[in-house]
Amino acid sequence: MKSSVKRRKRYRLKSGVTRFLIYAAFFLGLFIYGYIGISNAIKNINYRETYEYKLTNLGYSMDDTRKLIAILKPERLDEILKEEQYNEIYHNILQQKYFIDKNFEDYVTYKVSHSDVSYEDTIAIVNVHANNGWYNTSFESNIDDGYLVLVNKFYHLNKDYKRVDLEKANLAYAYADNQAASIVLENFEQMRDDVFNELNVKLMINSSYRSYENQEAIYNDYKNISLKYADQYAARPGYSEHQTGLSLDITSWEHPGQKAFTESAEYEWLKNNAYKYGFILRYPEGKENITGYNTESWHFRYVGNEVAKQIYNEGITFDEYYAYYIEQ
Ligand code: DAL
Ligand code: ZN
Repeated sequence: MKSSVKRRKRYRLKSGVTRFLIYAAFFLGLFIYGYIGISNAIKNINYRETYEYKLTNLGYSMDDTRKLIAILKPERLDEILKEEQYNEIYHNILQQKYFIDKNFEDYVTYKVSHSDVSYEDTIAIVNVHANNGWYNTSFESNIDDGYLVLVNKFYHLNKDYKRVDLEKANLAYAYADNQAASIVLENFEQMRDDVFNELNVKLMINSSYRSYENQEAIYNDYKNISLKYADQYAARPGYSEHQTGLSLDITSWEHPGQKAFTESAEYEWLKNNAYKYGFILRYPEGKENITGYNTESWHFRYVGNEVAKQIYNEGITFDEYYAYYIEQ
């Protein structure tokens, strides 16, 4: 009898503790559930305030959104949000292969005012500074770039600049008074031999190194026809690649005329093989708005085998190569 009272007491005691524990667990669970819910709601409210949320909500992909946030200041992101709709110009610009962060606004400005220009060309034009207008921006060429020195309508050489390793070209393959950097002549000779063996045609050098004064005379001659014509075919003094000693105007003994050479098998061969000797066709067809010159089937530039191959494979001009791989 005594023992059954004791057992009941113990049982009541036990069930009291258990009930307490069950209640405690229930309230703890409720508390945790509520806490998580509230903190998620706060997080959600905070996320809705972020540029990531707002831009993706306008339709920008996560990739575009992250790029925009990384490149632009908050004030600019606010402007984009104020447009209140997805703008495909931003997306198309961000997707371009040669996109450079710091040029974003210039790409947009250029594309908006030149809607007929492709995105690819917009990127190239801005990268090479051509959006500012020919000769309107001028930097000094960096001689330390060696065989990759850039000289174009935006990069110029000093009046007195002259390579120390200029060599006279052999009259067997060059018209009188031609000089170029020794490595250029070596590679040209090799290329010339190979063209002769394959096509039985003799390549010739028409023009190569030109001093500032030589270039000035040529440019002024062209200018007598018209300024527009001069700027399409000749560089202004200081702005000619010929002053680098790394450029050659090539023709052939068999097809010395410009038209005949442009239509010849040797020109076709050069377009496809010159890179193996370190040369690139410097002013290709279709790239006039990037180089600033009418296409020249004769003007080849030495940049070394590796870079020549890359430029050939990527189908870009040296101006674009320099802007993307060296300057930025
Ligand atoms: N004809 C090229 C552009 C020069 O004058 O340098
Ligand atoms: Zn030339």
